[in-house]
Amino acid sequence: MPQSDDTPLSLRTERIKRAGEKQRATTQPGFPATRLRRTRMQDWSRRLVRETHLGVDNLVWPLFVIEGDGARQTIESMPGVERLSIDLAIEAAKEAFELGLPAIALFPYTEIGLRDEVASEACNPANLICRAVRAIKAEVPDIGIICDVALDPYTSHGHDGIIVEGEIDNDRSLEVLVRQALVQAEAGCDILAPSDMMDGRIGAMRAALEEAGYTNTKLLSYAVKYASGFYAPFRDAVGSGAMLKGDKQSYQMDPANSEEAIREVALDIAEGADMVMIKPGLPYLDVLYRVKQTFGVPTFAYQTSGEYAMLSTGAANGCIARDAAIMETLMCYRRAGADAIFTYFAREVAERLKAEA
Ligand code: PBG
Repeated sequence: MPQSDDTPLSLRTERIKRAGEKQRATTQPGFPATRLRRTRMQDWSRRLVRETHLGVDNLVWPLFVIEGDGARQTIESMPGVERLSIDLAIEAAKEAFELGLPAIALFPYTEIGLRDEVASEACNPANLICRAVRAIKAEVPDIGIICDVALDPYTSHGHDGIIVEGEIDNDRSLEVLVRQALVQAEAGCDILAPSDMMDGRIGAMRAALEEAGYTNTKLLSYAVKYASGFYAPFRDAVGSGAMLKGDKQSYQMDPANSEEAIREVALDIAEGADMVMIKPGLPYLDVLYRVKQTFGVPTFAYQTSGEYAMLSTGAANGCIARDAAIMETLMCYRRAGADAIFTYFAREVAERLKAEA
């Protein structure tokens, strides 16, 4: 079939790669000259031919923050993960820094009484997340701090945007999201990570940040975020699950689509995203791979709360080899193209990597 010039870039890249693979297959001598097991025989040899590496630089540790002092709360659906008051979050950040983790991601549990229809608290410069950012920056200045930009921890209906006449209104939501982004930038957040999936938000935020002088505040766009069944434990953790009315299908992506993922990423790069995120991770490694191959930009993936719960409870029930499966899943993210992975296992994996080094 003749190739037309308007073949999408992703498809052309794929074709060139496939041609290369075919050639390699035909020039390779057969058995017994080729025995692929030879290089698998010793640990040193496996290390020598390993194609992908996982290091502490590839990990981001998400933390849930609550009000209080010396307060920690367990999250039932995420065994081993806790909500921490700011003083304890500072300790966690110190630990993360000492382990060499490049960044942490902060998510607030907003007091229920502070949540309203229009997410007013999201734009309060003295809200929990802004106080947490300031406090951590003061004590641990050299760790990167990432903040979600989305309204779900602040709305009384649990949605990421503002509802107008029964619909999540894109442009009305943008106004509030931009204000939220600015108060977080002002607090000292290094990377703003819009996870709201409104159209046009990266461009709107970039413009507002430039105008306000935050030229080095980075944008990590959750460009490809699916309407997924893997977020339930996270919604427990930030307290939005019980409040959520309806679903998020009018803004988060259809799990059936990956062409659309390419369009989402292309738009966000054009609007000024410094990095893009694919979420969830494990069921969407094909999308992650395509995005990294097509654009070659810094590409992150989120090992979501549902993936964490699946691994943790599976291991607790004796069905999964816990430590091996954790390392395997993270390596698979890397192999598919993730530069960094948001994972609730980040601290323990960093500890393991340090012990092995
Ligand atoms: C909020 C947000 C969600 C997650 C990150 N930011 C949940 C959602 O969109 O409902 C999910 C993270 C996880 O499951 O670990 N916009």
